[in-house]
Amino acid sequence: MHLLLSGLTLAFVFCSAFLLAVDEEAEEPQVIILLGPPGSGKGTQAKRIAESLKIPHISTGDLFRENLKAGTPLGVKAKGYMESGKLVPDELVLDMLMDRVHKPDAKRGFLLDGFPRSIPQAEALKKHLGRLTPIVINLEVSDETVIKRIEGRLSCPNCGAIYNKYFSPSKSGKLCESCQGELNQRSDDRYEVVVERLKQYHNQTEPLIDFYSKDKILFSIPGERDPEVIYKEIMNKIRNR
Ligand code: AP5
Repeated sequence: MHLLLSGLTLAFVFCSAFLLAVDEEAEEPQVIILLGPPGSGKGTQAKRIAESLKIPHISTGDLFRENLKAGTPLGVKAKGYMESGKLVPDELVLDMLMDRVHKPDAKRGFLLDGFPRSIPQAEALKKHLGRLTPIVINLEVSDETVIKRIEGRLSCPNCGAIYNKYFSPSKSGKLCESCQGELNQRSDDRYEVVVERLKQYHNQTEPLIDFYSKDKILFSIPGERDPEVIYKEIMNKIRNR
């Protein structure tokens, strides 16, 4: 009897594993692109969406900041562009991005935050994705709100949590609520740099709204509301696609 039960259990485990494997293979990887001006809330929303869908959150800005911190040749090359609010040249961004999306954790899909940011970047991504169609979420926020939000932003250098001294301050004051890291302001969040970042956005990134609208894969979401309301609306768009 004991042997029979063990046999049945093994058969059940084997069948479930097989079904799971088949299921995973059948499932199409999900690619989500978050578009929007600086400070529109891409990072804030990306963290939650990626956690909920169990796919990696790939932020080109974060990848550059990690390289900068580690003093890699890529970080050294990107530094001047980032600190003046200019876009890092496409060839540097593309190599870094392609490396990241080929990592094993991105097999089931990924969420892109801050990429693509120009038509050549969007075309390179389209070529890379082949028959896979991404969903593009465009967060709409005015320039005035961007400036106010960025001026108040504080981030945790350890876990990446994002706060705002006006809209969502940390309950632990200058420390992160989750890991107690000391919150700091990004060096490219100075007023004159933000003005340049906005200029770059309007000239180079905004044309992507038309680029993706033509393929009918872009959904614009008003971004000047409660982050929770925005999150639910984005998740609805993703699930009902
Ligand atoms: P990156 O790091 O990508 O910066 P960004 O696009 O300018 O976006 P931010 O990170 O500033 O804002 P966000 O939209 O994520 O907003 P957040 O959620 O933090 O890029 C930095 C630089 O790297 C670029 O300038 C460029 O040089 C280079 N770079 C990166 N990618 C590149 C690429 N592909 N090509 C070339 N160069 C590239 O929110 C902002 C604040 O608002 C926070 O304080 C938050 O708490 C608050 N907030 C968020 N949502 C709400 C809400 N609904 N209500 C009230 N407050 C809110």
